[in-house]
This record gives sequence, structure tokens and C-alpha cells, in this order.
Amino acid sequence: MNLPNSVTIKEVGPRDGLQNEKVFIDTQDKIDWVNQLSETGLSYIEVTSFVHPKWIPQLKDAVHVLKQIKRKKTITYAALVPNMKGLERALETDVDECSVFMSASESHNMKNINKTIDGTFPVLNEVVAASLKENKTVRGYVSTVFGCPYEGNVPIDAVLHVSENLFEMGISELSLGDTIGVANPRQVEQVLEEVLKRFPSDKLAMHFHNTRGTALANVLASLQMGITKFDSSLGGLGGCPYAPGASGNLATDDLIYMLEGMGITTGIQADKLLKASQFIEAKINKPLPSHSLQVHRATCYS
Ligand code: HMG
Ligand code: MG
Repeated sequence: MNLPNSVTIKEVGPRDGLQNEKVFIDTQDKIDWVNQLSETGLSYIEVTSFVHPKWIPQLKDAVHVLKQIKRKKTITYAALVPNMKGLERALETDVDECSVFMSASESHNMKNINKTIDGTFPVLNEVVAASLKENKTVRGYVSTVFGCPYEGNVPIDAVLHVSENLFEMGISELSLGDTIGVANPRQVEQVLEEVLKRFPSDKLAMHFHNTRGTALANVLASLQMGITKFDSSLGGLGGCPYAPGASGNLATDDLIYMLEGMGITTGIQADKLLKASQFIEAKINKPLPSHSLQVHRATCYS
């Protein structure tokens, strides 16, 4: 197998994970959790989201959380920013990176951000330009790359169209989202073949949800295509509230187990990660789905 020596893991649990939790987690608990994550060796944490608080009430405390976490210079602290109102709030904090997002399929884009795809471009263009002016780096997400909960199959041309527009705006990295966890490794290879004809691998990240248990297989397919950046969520927490049935992201702990076992370094310490996952599991008060945590529970209590 042709594999990289190291990969970068982008922890999205505090955003993509928590946004799907109905019971409000105290602001101080979120801060404590991010502080614990900062001690694990992660170099990137997506801390929160400046979307409308009515759409995602769980993250209504975005400004407070970002203002109060203990920051490490080695870590990029990022947040979702959907529009200029969101950016205004984000700029009250010293967020390092703003992440803009939209979908490759019309229906999901409309359900998620209340706009057509064409109507989203000027909104995000303004956010990207203003963020860059404030010396923030900007990441772009394209959702529903491998399938849409409302439309099913999503043509590759739709993915390329959105991706090209986001890069033209000035994003430095694009994350390709399997929002509802329908992708398989062959499809990952086919999509990446097309995407890599246009954009270099170091500007791409993969964002797999593990709804049908294919996320790790999809990571392996991506690694073989030269991808070295992956989004994941500790314990497998999460999902997209505007994509019915979307369960948690690929679990960071399972991803690290596989990669480190294959000799691919991540720089993350599994023991510290375990403590951080147990912390948030106690706060959400239900078992997290990661396999690593299930093994830990079985070996601890049997
Ligand atoms: P809208 O209702 O169309 O907004 O929502 P609007 O521009 O028409 O404004 C209406 C009112 O909301 C105005 O207030 C605005 O000021 C206010 P009024 O003048 O009526 O008093 N407003 C805001 N307030 C606070 N913060 C803001 C904001 N924006 C407007 N940012 C909007 C449009 C995009 C805001 C809304 O649709 C929204 O918040 N959507 C977010 C949904 C979401 O967070 N989904 C999950 C994240 S995406 C995801 O999970 C996928 C990903 O993980 C990748 C993958 O898995 O594929 C990234
Ligand atoms: Mg997601």
C-alpha cells in the first residue's frame, strides 16, 4: 500500500458533535472539554459555530466558549461562519480560522442554510473576503458530496462547481463532506480522481460520517489517493440536524487506533484522548458510539 507517514486530524467534536445534542451542555463544560482536547496533541480544533442560535441552540454560547478557552499557540482554533452576521460575532473572539459551508445539492443547501446554491455564493464570498482582511485563514466545506438525504445521488459536476467557487473565493482548504455517511471506498476513489485533477491533495480534507460503518474504509481509500487530512469527532459524537438520519462523524479515537497501528503518526496521545471522551460522555449522559470506547467499557467492567 502507498501510504503517508503522518496525517493531520481535525477535531470537529465540539462543533459537529455537540450541534446534534438536544440537551444543552453547560458553557463551562464545553470550555473544559476543549481545554482537555488542547492537551491531547491535536493541532486543530473546530470549537463552535456562529450560525443562528435558533437553528442550533446548543451552540448559542459560541462567543463565550471561544473567548474563555485556554489557547495553545500550536493549535488552530476554528469555527463555522455562515454569513456576515456570524462573522461579526466570530470577530468578537480571536478565532484563528473561519469555516464557510454549503452543499453540493440544492435541497440540502436550502434546508441547512435557507438559500439556493447560487444565492449562497455571494454571501460566502463576502465572508471569505472579510475574514481574510482580518487575517483569518478560511476553510471551506462542501456537504452532500457522496449523497443527499433529499435528492439521493449527487453528480460529481455539482461537487466540482461548488468546490471551484469556494477556491476562487480564497479558501485555503476544502473539506469534502459525506454528510449522511453513505460513501463507500470505490466511490471515494472515483470522486477523488475527479477532484484531484483540479485541486492538489494538500488543499483537501475528508469529512466522513460513520452512519453505515464505512468511514474507516473510506479513510483508507482516501489515504491511498494521497489525502492526509481528516475531520473526526471524539467518541463519534454528532451529526447534522438538517440531514435526517445523519449520525456521528468518524470517531477520532477509532481513527487514531487504526492510523497509529499502521505506523502513520498523528501526534495525538490516546490516553489523554480517552479521558476527554469520558468527560464529554458523562456530560451528554449516554454512551458514545466509538468502538474504542466500547472496548474500554467492556475491559474495564467485565
Ligand atoms: P436565515 O433565517 O435565512 O437568516 O438563516 P437571514 O439572513 O434571513 O436573517 C434572519 C435573522 O437572523 C436576522 O435577524 C439576522 O440578523 C439573524 P432580524 O433582522 O430578523 O432580527 N441572523 C443571525 N443571528 C445570529 N447569527 C447568525 C445570523 N444570521 C442571521 N449567524 C442561516 C440563515 C445561515 C443563519 C441559518 O440557516 C443557519 O444558521 N443555518 C445553520 C444550520 C447549521 O448550523 N447546520 C449544521 C452545520 S453544517 C454541517 O453540519 C455539515 C458539515 O459538518 C459538513 C458535512 O458533514 O457535510 C459542515
Ligand atoms: Mg459533518
